[in-house]
Amino acid sequence: MGSGGREHALSWQLAQSPSCAKLYAAPGNPGIELHAECVSISVDDIDGLIAFVKANAIDFVVVGPEAPLVAGLGDRLRDMGVAAFGPGAAAARLEGSKGFTKDLCARASIPTAAYVRCMDAGEARAALTDFSIPVVIKADGLAAGKGVIIAETREEAETAIDEMFDGAFGSAGAEVVIEEYMTGEEASFFALSDGTNVLAFGSAQDHKRVGDGDVGPNTGGMGAYSPAPVLTPELEAQVMDRIIRPTVATLAAEGTPYIGVLFAGLMLTAEGPKLIEYNARFGDPECQVLMMRHAGDLAALLYAAATGALDDAAPPAFASDYALTVVMAANGYPATPEKGGAIHGIADAETGGVRVFHAGTARSGDAIVAAGGRVLNVTATGRTVTEAQARAYAAVDRLDFASGFCRRDIGWREVAREAR
Ligand code: AMP
Ligand code: GLY
Repeated sequence: MGSGGREHALSWQLAQSPSCAKLYAAPGNPGIELHAECVSISVDDIDGLIAFVKANAIDFVVVGPEAPLVAGLGDRLRDMGVAAFGPGAAAARLEGSKGFTKDLCARASIPTAAYVRCMDAGEARAALTDFSIPVVIKADGLAAGKGVIIAETREEAETAIDEMFDGAFGSAGAEVVIEEYMTGEEASFFALSDGTNVLAFGSAQDHKRVGDGDVGPNTGGMGAYSPAPVLTPELEAQVMDRIIRPTVATLAAEGTPYIGVLFAGLMLTAEGPKLIEYNARFGDPECQVLMMRHAGDLAALLYAAATGALDDAAPPAFASDYALTVVMAANGYPATPEKGGAIHGIADAETGGVRVFHAGTARSGDAIVAAGGRVLNVTATGRTVTEAQARAYAAVDRLDFASGFCRRDIGWREVAREAR
């Protein structure tokens, strides 16, 4: 379920899974059409999806984005006896409410930034005095990745607080979380959970700012690579022991087991890895690089997670090569992306093992045109990040997408380390 580059990558892997006989995508996109039968049910039409699942005797639903999970799609499916990869509404609060996650971290002694939850501006302004500058101000709810302000002065922090309570992020800002500012390198870590058992599912590093050198406004993510070598096996073991396992155990003990993929945004601080935030789904574009490296029956593995059988499942198999994806966005993104721009050369770009995942495209007659902010994910592999990066940009240069742009430095941290 879904229509972005993440769902294209998932569909591509699910369609190759020996255990998958027939794959539908709702609503899908022109890239997903190559692997699945697309049905036009939007991700907010939960009743429509439930009716389709019944009518077609669907066995298993893999949910891409967070909004339907937070709205309870996982519960609805499980209540009718259909396996679903994705948490129920209660456990999806890990993404749906930052305050919920911070309180859970406090209960389970999970390393994360010091914080306070505030219900009104007066309370928040008063609480602010306990924090040093910079300080992080967050809208509690889902705000499409935009509800986080790193305030460099007290005035900026107070303005952010007032704007959030004044509705700048709608109901997401009805509650505000103030957090200590952490420093370090960021990495994304993924783990599958069946409610009780957990399996590590790889690491990645995203690039959130729109411009080269990590400047400009935040985006959904302009490119990623996997694995992220900064997350060494030792650090990964710490993340599993101190962050992932206590989270899954706490949710299970409280009667709201977590089923699906836990996406931990981590800050690798001088005191060790700390949780920045959780997402209740795969990252986009992190999923694209994980899927590029995944080498097993994905449908069987996700089904095991959905049915409480991860303890018997073969651990995920990943190619040792790096994968790197470059997001091609429509001019104007992230503010007002230009729609309808023509795209040519996808087949040319996809030579030599490169894959172009569709993120925001539409069909216009026989042509493919831009239909979203992030439009394509040009994804390549290599023995090093440097090699994967060179192959991805060579493929970008074979594409003809005049109204699109991309960052030219995806993977720069690792490329710099590899050059040493
Ligand atoms: P989030 O939406 O919670 O992932 O936050 C978006 C970005 O804000 C993160 O990727 C970090 O770069 C930054 N951020 C969030 N919380 C903190 C924090 N407590 N300290 C430092 N940076 C943060
Ligand atoms: N790429 C970041 C996210 O999916 O939240």
